[in-house]
Amino acid sequence: PAGAQRVAAGKPISADLFGIFFEDLNYAADGGLYAELVQNRSFEYAPSDHEGWHPLTSWDYLHEGFAMGSLSVESAAPLHANNPHYVQLKIENPFQKGLGLRNHGFDGIALTAGEQYDFSLWARVKSGAAVPLLVQLQDAQGKVLAEATLSAQAADWQQYRATLTPTATDAGASLVVLATGKGILDFDMVSLFPKRTFRGRANGLRADLAQSIANLKPKFMRFPGGCLTHGDGLDNLYDWKKTIGPVAQRTAQRNIWGYHQTTGLGYFEYFQFCEDIGAKPIPVVAAGVSCQNSGGSWKIGSTGQQCLPLADMAAYTQDVLDLIEYANGPATSIWGAKRAAAGHPKPFDLQYIGIGNEDKQTPGFRERFKLLYDAVRRQYPTVTVIGTVGPSPKGEDYDQGWAFANQLSVPVVDEHYYEQPKWFLANQRRYDTYDRSKAKVYLGEYASWGNALHNALAEALYMTALERNGDVVQLASYAPLLAKEGHTQWKPDLIYFNNTAVVPSVNYYVQQLFGQNQGDTYHAGVVTPPAGPSADTTAAASCVRDARTGDVIVKLVNLGAQPQPFAIDLTRFEGLKTMATQTTFTGARNAQNTFASPRTVLPKTTAYKISKRFTYSAAPYSLTVLRVRGK
Ligand code: AHR
Repeated sequence: PAGAQRVAAGKPISADLFGIFFEDLNYAADGGLYAELVQNRSFEYAPSDHEGWHPLTSWDYLHEGFAMGSLSVESAAPLHANNPHYVQLKIENPFQKGLGLRNHGFDGIALTAGEQYDFSLWARVKSGAAVPLLVQLQDAQGKVLAEATLSAQAADWQQYRATLTPTATDAGASLVVLATGKGILDFDMVSLFPKRTFRGRANGLRADLAQSIANLKPKFMRFPGGCLTHGDGLDNLYDWKKTIGPVAQRTAQRNIWGYHQTTGLGYFEYFQFCEDIGAKPIPVVAAGVSCQNSGGSWKIGSTGQQCLPLADMAAYTQDVLDLIEYANGPATSIWGAKRAAAGHPKPFDLQYIGIGNEDKQTPGFRERFKLLYDAVRRQYPTVTVIGTVGPSPKGEDYDQGWAFANQLSVPVVDEHYYEQPKWFLANQRRYDTYDRSKAKVYLGEYASWGNALHNALAEALYMTALERNGDVVQLASYAPLLAKEGHTQWKPDLIYFNNTAVVPSVNYYVQQLFGQNQGDTYHAGVVTPPAGPSADTTAAASCVRDARTGDVIVKLVNLGAQPQPFAIDLTRFEGLKTMATQTTFTGARNAQNTFASPRTVLPKTTAYKISKRFTYSAAPYSLTVLRVRGK
């Protein structure tokens, strides 16, 4: 039809190219994305999580007024066997003001005036008569910001709920639960959630943080790790089955990064979040072996890898197959029924599964990987298995890992590298000559060492090369994604946050601009970057087209201190609109977004009139995205 866009032939590239990798490190889950405000809500903290931690970490014992009685941590008759500890209060004096506990949250509880918060706890009265409870949110001076009363009556475990609406905004509040009458009371799972979670999900995610992730427009999300997946010993392999079902019945797991996982953010919530943000889920399971650096040592090169006994591999393999059934099986299947019971009868459409993470290429790993790989392929031939190679292209486990994966015809391989910006510039041709007949690439973790603009632009330059090679690079995700202020084990990261603020790094905006402007064909020769002796290391460009919108997207990266001219020739595309958008992301070479100055460098979008052929002068230290409407 007249005015329709003639589609210039381009090279088909992966429609899933840019996504995200979520790992629970840097307090990304508990105290982070997971919206629970009470720390150690189920009294399961232990010294094995972190030196000095115990069931009452983050709690203070309160005995107000003439309180007489005692508090103890018990485990004789828990709410659920997976959740063994609970607190028992014996209140002896009927005239006392209150006996109970104060929780300090994760570095305080951040409250917003007028917002509603859902409080709940499980309790059991052991003494016959009802025990009245006073629930308060207090500021640091003890001023009451919100209050509710409850009456615990049941002799068996029962959940009690209240809604609290604070009268003031406070970043450092605490939650107080006081028994104000005589009796013996057991309680557990003391919880406080903002009513406003991301998409209003129950047991949901922190809205601002989740939204900042959604705004990246990721095509996929890999989870739950990284090193977290295979853990630092066989007792620490991440067990997805322990993370589903009612939260009070989930099993806490020790986090390899030195803290505690409630597993409140578990596999159901991960799948749900992926669906909510339009990202394909990519769960990663351990290959039946622990982290190559485990066995008590974090030294690179240590041979601490431990393998599940082969006799246990049939059961472990079944766990992995069950995970796929949990995601994709009908609601009538055993595991699909558990998904349906959680409120999602429709399958989650799992298309990929990762097996292993940066594993050492030992015979133990290889044997177990093959067992898992063969079983998944046999039972779920349409699910793409992603294999793994050692942690760095410089290590022997890397080359050996690729050789092994290609020997087994593994369709996609996950490789990782954290390098200096100059490495990314020097290696931008890395995939140009990659053998297209072999396994495709998932660049599952990469980052240049830093959060300054020149780091982000080195990543941007590299990402134009990933687009150019999007026929062989199937997926790519920056890492790590989240980092909490004061609890950061790994730097740099993409998004920094504390209890009240979310600070996207400059690297974030590069990821966002590529994420929001993905295409499915690559068009070589549309942009000619400036020539010159060092042009290769300071300037790069790409052109992709998105078939759904018909839009043509040109990305220009200038890492130099001078403006750079890029020649653009759009004559091959017919029917394009002349009004385009121009988004520029530019600033000082070392500029960073910080808590003190979170908006130092932000993208700016304006209208831009294009011609069929024109020269665009890209600002110093910039990424520019020109998006030309096709329809
Ligand atoms: O992203 C941080 C860690 O780096 C991941 O857990 C691991 O896969 C890699 O070594």
